[in-house]
Amino acid sequence: MRVFLTGGAGYIGSHTLLEVLSQDHQVCVYDDFSNSEPEALKRVAKLTNRSFDTVEGDVLDRAKIQQSLIDFKPDVVVHFAGKKAVGESTEKPLMYYRNNVDGTLALLEGMEAAGCKRIVFSSSATVYGEPHYLPYDEHHPLAPTNPYGMTKYMVELILKDWCASNVKNTAVLLRYFNPVGAHESGEIGEDPNDIPNNLMPFVSQVAVGRREKLSVFGGDYETHDGTGVRDYIHVVDLAKAHAAAIQFADGHSGCEAINVGSGQGSSVLDLVEAFKSASGRDIPYEVVARRAGDIAEFYADPTKADKILGWKTERNLSDMCKSAWNWQSRNPKGYNSIK
Ligand code: UFG
Repeated sequence: MRVFLTGGAGYIGSHTLLEVLSQDHQVCVYDDFSNSEPEALKRVAKLTNRSFDTVEGDVLDRAKIQQSLIDFKPDVVVHFAGKKAVGESTEKPLMYYRNNVDGTLALLEGMEAAGCKRIVFSSSATVYGEPHYLPYDEHHPLAPTNPYGMTKYMVELILKDWCASNVKNTAVLLRYFNPVGAHESGEIGEDPNDIPNNLMPFVSQVAVGRREKLSVFGGDYETHDGTGVRDYIHVVDLAKAHAAAIQFADGHSGCEAINVGSGQGSSVLDLVEAFKSASGRDIPYEVVARRAGDIAEFYADPTKADKILGWKTERNLSDMCKSAWNWQSRNPKGYNSIK
């Protein structure tokens, strides 16, 4: 198939690119490199020994994305490009709505012009908001609690209407839980621009000596050890879920929302312990106040993914930590380590 990846140089995009190339699809990556590095693409090309098209462009550049889609003629688009920091989204909501919502409209308009009827969308478990029950299944009410989550929810609604407008249109909404880890080669991984907001990259940077200690946000939640519980998923398992969604989209039409998680909850301290064992490094930490907006505990019911995509996670927390450490120790400053 011909697969068009927006944001294909980013953290999840680059791991999916590698997976999709290894399945012999033809690929075009469309990325503005605002939160990614061209080096990631070079490394994927080397690891797979495959070539692919690359267009440097912003999804908001309507003329450029439309022309790129018309030129490439994709069978399916996988849409990763977007802003993803929850805290930043509360400070700059308009930027988030512009990029994530209008960016998707520009993409869909381009797809219509190019005759492409299938999309796999990077949604997020954050669309569920405060849990009414756990694990979250796909029928759980949707009530995001921040602008980033609202953008994911709004795009889900847009895609639902888009599918209803034409029986041939297909959208697979992948609701990611907490993606972490790196490809086993240690050549590609998560490379935050700034001080990491998320737990695993922060822990990795403490282990490698870039940060002094981890602040554990809250030790008084009603969880097994008082710290926040999440459903961590290995980024390689997540990439494989995209490959399965691409295959699924080929034979189906309509709009399907699917949880992509392991079904297992791990606390902040569970992850710290697993990382210590994986790396052999100490992870100094201090328990501080809760972070505003954090939920005590959430994890997925991943049954639907198994049922309709034939996909489930194969890697555990130890694999996630080992691969994150392999990437971080080989690339202490991320992709900039080689400059
Ligand atoms: N945490 C710390 N210290 C840190 C960073 C995080 O204790 O320095 C804790 C958090 O309080 C939370 C857990 O580690 O309990 C995980 O936090 P992350 O920031 O790694 O992840 P979140 O669950 O807050 O958010 C992630 C993504 C969002 C997505 C959400 C739901 O960052 O984009 O999962 O899927 F919306």
